[in-house]
Amino acid sequence: PSVPVLWQVQSIDSTNRCLLEWAPQGLPQHFCLVARQQSAGRGRRGRAWISDAEGSLTFSLWWIFDRSLQELSGLPLAVSLGMVEALHSLGMTSVGVKWPNDLWREGRKVAGVLVETTRLSSGQVGAVIGIGLNVALPSSLQDTCVLSLNDLRDEADQAPARATVLGRLLNTLIPLLESFAQSGFAPFAETWMTHCVHRNQQVTLLHPNHTRSQGECVGLSSLGGLILRDPAGEPHTYHGGELSLRLE
Ligand code: BTN
Repeated sequence: PSVPVLWQVQSIDSTNRCLLEWAPQGLPQHFCLVARQQSAGRGRRGRAWISDAEGSLTFSLWWIFDRSLQELSGLPLAVSLGMVEALHSLGMTSVGVKWPNDLWREGRKVAGVLVETTRLSSGQVGAVIGIGLNVALPSSLQDTCVLSLNDLRDEADQAPARATVLGRLLNTLIPLLESFAQSGFAPFAETWMTHCVHRNQQVTLLHPNHTRSQGECVGLSSLGGLILRDPAGEPHTYHGGELSLRLE
């Protein structure tokens, strides 16, 4: 498998924004930008991503695909699955995936993935795969966040070294991205469900237009859409929105 060029910077506004800015000038085929600190980290749906210089891991990977934008809709799910597998291999087996691209541990979020794409003059699609992972968050940060966050610390308050986590993540994600580039999301769908924290649970999906759908989470489509079974037993596939795990 190919090895990415890896750059680490002390401080930047957002590793995703930076790679999107650099992309038109040309980037190495596989490039990884790691930032110790971000001053304007971006989250999904226009939200901010808050991180800590000591306790967070924030980086973006650049990858070029010969696939349509629609086929890339499952990319964040495949990446979050790869992250869960990497963390399990480091002994952190209580981490699971929450649709579409969060990592959860004991009912709280530990990581998020933000994929932003750009069409290249070659006709290919360049993807910036941004990853924010809470390794050992200071309690001040946990308290100030609206969303309740978790990190990777164990009962003895010990967290793995960030370099260890980054190394394991890249070792898992690079072959995974090569496989995704070849075969798309479909081969990952079943394994994703085995790590899903809301599998077979009643959930509420909040749509971008503020309406809601409720149902039992029964699976994923080949593009990574969420399949909910309504009270009449009918399956429906959804491709956007925010998942609430409480039945409201
Ligand atoms: C989410 O909303 O859950 C996605 C969070 C993604 C945050 C990462 S941190 C590295 C990269 N750079 C950014 O500005 N955002 C992503």
